[in-house]
Amino acid sequence: MRISLTVNGMREGEDVEPRLLLVHFLRERLGLTGTNVGCDTTSCGACTVLLDGESVKSCTVLAVQADGTEVTTIEGVSGDGELNPLQAALQRHHGLQCGYCTPGMVMAATSLLRENPDPTEDEVRLGLEGNLCRCTGYQGIVDAVLEAARGSAR
Ligand code: FES
Ligand code: FES
Repeated sequence: MRISLTVNGMREGEDVEPRLLLVHFLRERLGLTGTNVGCDTTSCGACTVLLDGESVKSCTVLAVQADGTEVTTIEGVSGDGELNPLQAALQRHHGLQCGYCTPGMVMAATSLLRENPDPTEDEVRLGLEGNLCRCTGYQGIVDAVLEAARGSAR
């Protein structure tokens, strides 16, 4: 099937098998390997991207379901090679260890902060509950999201 979508601001048109998952389309067809695969049970969130601004687990979406949409991956969240404020806060708070979960965390937190620009700690924890960190670095991640929220609220 022919699909046409916008990924990180670029129009993409590709022929895909109907069974192809969005995460595999992004990684293997477009070379956007920042979106990770961390499980086969839809539980880890390492594959989180924004689909028309909403966070989704791209391992549970078929590429054909993304036809006509706008997708943002971790490669599209900042410009000119600079960290965006959320990414910089994650770095400051040591909100990553191996980094495998980090792209998904950034995308989920981006969506969370768009919906709720001034979350409480509990709301951050609830908002990120679909994203697992095997290194268990949750406190730094939560602190970073709260700091990013405070910065954008200034
Ligand atoms: S790879 Fe998508 S939830 Fe784990
Ligand atoms: S930093 Fe290693 S999985 Fe989260």
